[in-house]
Amino acid sequence: MPSAETCIRNARLSDATAISQITSGYAGQGIMLKRPVENIIEDIRNFFVAEYQGRVVGCCAIAFYTVRLAEIRSLAVLEEFKGTGIGRLLVQKAEAVLSEEGVKEVFVLTLNPGFFGRMGYSEIEKEYFPQKIWRDCTNCPKLMACDEIAMVKKL
Ligand SMILES: CC(C)(COP(=O)(O)OP(=O)(O)OC[C@H]1O[C@@H](n2cnc3c(N)ncnc32)[C@H](O)[C@@H]1OP(=O)(O)O)[C@@H](O)C(=O)NCCC(=O)NCCS
Repeated sequence: MPSAETCIRNARLSDATAISQITSGYAGQGIMLKRPVENIIEDIRNFFVAEYQGRVVGCCAIAFYTVRLAEIRSLAVLEEFKGTGIGRLLVQKAEAVLSEEGVKEVFVLTLNPGFFGRMGYSEIEKEYFPQKIWRDCTNCPKLMACDEIAMVKKL
């Protein structure tokens, strides 16, 4: 079972291309927002990766908004490893790090509420997170037709 042999670790600069490949596959399907590799490099310290037999098979990132509020984003697992527990491990790692930092509330914007529901997240109105709107959404091509669902979890 891959999850038992999967290591979740902080991303390194050399993982940026693999992260970009994993996320851009889903971005192409309209499931995730595309993040150019330069943007991933810039943000690499906020990424975690799942490594299985020396290969990066999944990733996620954290973003801080206030001392109490953060986001988990860019979560993706390679198609062939989906459903093996790696997504859960990535979310648990991100939550553990956020908790250590004293974050009390974590949110996600997702087209996959089923998965995050299993992780203990509940749906909430997007307007509950005005910080997100100021910071990222204003540059998003989907701004006026956002189909993502906001979900939140208390840590
Ligand atoms: C979402 C994603 C990261 C989940 O990772 P995963 O490794 O496949 O998920 P896991 O195997 O860890 O699943 C954990 C639990 O969630 C459930 N789950 C997984 N995907 C689900 C879905 N789409 N709907 C409902 N439940 C789901 C699993 O059945 C499992 O349930 P359990 O508690 O009964 O064991 C992965 O499917 C993916 O990369 N999807 C495409 C990108 C994406 O949608 N990213 C989401 C953020 S925008």
